Amino acid sequence: MAVIVANWKMNKVLSEAIEFTKALKSMSIKNGRKVIIAPPFVYLNQIVNELKGTEISVSAQNMFYEDKGAYTGEISPLQLIDIGVEYVIIGHSERRNIFKEDDELISKKLKSAISHNLTPIFCIGEKIEERRSGKTFEIIKKQLTDGLKLINADEIYKIIFAYEPVWAIGTGVNATPEQAGEVHQWIKAYLEKKYLNLTGESVKILYGGSVTAENAKSLMSIDGVDGLLVGGASLKIDSFEKIINF
Ligand code: 13P
Repeated sequence: MAVIVANWKMNKVLSEAIEFTKALKSMSIKNGRKVIIAPPFVYLNQIVNELKGTEISVSAQNMFYEDKGAYTGEISPLQLIDIGVEYVIIGHSERRNIFKEDDELISKKLKSAISHNLTPIFCIGEKIEERRSGKTFEIIKKQLTDGLKLINADEIYKIIFAYEPVWAIGTGVNATPEQAGEVHQWIKAYLEKKYLNLTGESVKILYGGSVTAENAKSLMSIDGVDGLLVGGASLKIDSFEKIINF
């Protein structure tokens, strides 16, 4: 099953969000595609309701790890599951870099999401200077090791991983099939060696970073790429339809 996620980030007003969702609902989607929409928090409730009775799921773009309390401006896992959200993006590079989220916080969020039966979409990826200085795998390994610190071996398969090289996000420069394939295969080998040979489960790893209607098919043909996490090209129904039905 190819997992295709639309991360709208901080885009759309309500009328646009509803118009897109109605168009998505009436679209014919090829078999073997799992479609997930991640709208801004304020529209989650309406979009969940709009998509009731369909196979399309809804994801939050972030959450806090506590269930409730004095955390002004935060949203809890309890609140997300209460309105029917099934997935949550954790550790997006924009959260890491703009809002200074570190691996320790990310690990708490992953743990909390799993314990509430929310499926985390856990993002990792290196910056351009890290790639240029040959540190890609060092960075990926640290993000995995520290991010998964609180996660038990039997919980690893409950996470959807997403490799999003920071230099490819919103730049129009996607990773080449060689670059994406190398990192996806490395992550799978690392996780399988460290955890999954204990459980026999396998993990899904999405690719994100300048995915378009034009490059979706070739990215999906890479060994180790199980789906796509789409930003800019998920905002227009035409390009997102082509990506879903690549
Ligand atoms: P773009 O598709 O706009 O490069 O964004 C990727 C991304 O950050 C998805 O989470």
